[in-house]
Amino acid sequence: MQKVKVLLVISSKMTEMAQFHVEDRGPPDLRIWVVQQVRERSLMRILVLADIHSNWPALAAIQEPFDACLFVGDLVDYATDPVPCVDWIRKHAAVSVRGNHDHAVAQRIPVVKSNGLHQLAAATRPLHWKVLSPLHMKFLTRLPVTRKVTLDKKRFFLVHATPRDPFDEYLRDDKSAWQARLKGVDADFILVGHTHIPFALQLDGPMVINPGSVGQPRDGDPRAAYAIIENGKVELRRVKYDIDATLKHMRDSGIDAETLELATAVLRTGGRFEFDKLAQSVGTALDEDPNDVHDTVELAQFKPVETPKKKRKASKKKAPAKRKPSAS
Ligand SMILES: [Fe+2]
Repeated sequence: MQKVKVLLVISSKMTEMAQFHVEDRGPPDLRIWVVQQVRERSLMRILVLADIHSNWPALAAIQEPFDACLFVGDLVDYATDPVPCVDWIRKHAAVSVRGNHDHAVAQRIPVVKSNGLHQLAAATRPLHWKVLSPLHMKFLTRLPVTRKVTLDKKRFFLVHATPRDPFDEYLRDDKSAWQARLKGVDADFILVGHTHIPFALQLDGPMVINPGSVGQPRDGDPRAAYAIIENGKVELRRVKYDIDATLKHMRDSGIDAETLELATAVLRTGGRFEFDKLAQSVGTALDEDPNDVHDTVELAQFKPVETPKKKRKASKKKAPAKRKPSAS
């Protein structure tokens, strides 16, 4: 076997994100590889995910190459396979923030209502506490509520719902409402989730992006939703996944028949069934936008819960009322 000397010539300053041209020169016994930086790639390919909700088949179906993954909350609840979802985000997401369901699971908050989507959370949350390891729980507990990150000179601000109310406020593509809520937030891209409705909204300055929900879409399209940001452009994408596998996992995990029926309807219709059901429960016609009905119902269901008063000696200080996160 002939020995070959190799001389590597680096012709320019290289960075991790640059693209290179490699040229093989020289006589047969001396390989000279001239590595030239062709051009520096100006922007990364960023994968934005939200509202995975323990739906591993949905997350696994997203086969996109990416340089950085940003996750805007709600890893858990609603389905029954949180472990691979948490492991994937721990391993692959460069930045993650906490959703209201992550907070509730991490803080071991029981679901107090059993109607609508609360029924799904009520049935699946106790199972999470059985299958998630202390390491997984620690990860959920330590997720920040908001994060800022700069990638390729673009500033990203991540929050699950809105900066005004990071866990509970439902806000869709309402330009003036977002403009009002982003005062004091200095960023090029605002990444949010929570509504499970995808949109990309250009404001006077920043762009607000909701990639939609990976694990429980509610815009009538049952496919897993996500967003790709590349070269300054945003693409809202969808991919089919094996809904049967998600439902089978739920059945095998012991979810009761009624809850399974609800999950089947929600996942197969992309949330449309849920809108109808919720609308009927409050006697609201679906003449206009059913998504607004859904949001209204969810907000109407939310009421601050008073902290139980402990029996102890009278104190002049009052305990502040604690709010429990609503289902989303
Ligand atoms: Fe969610």
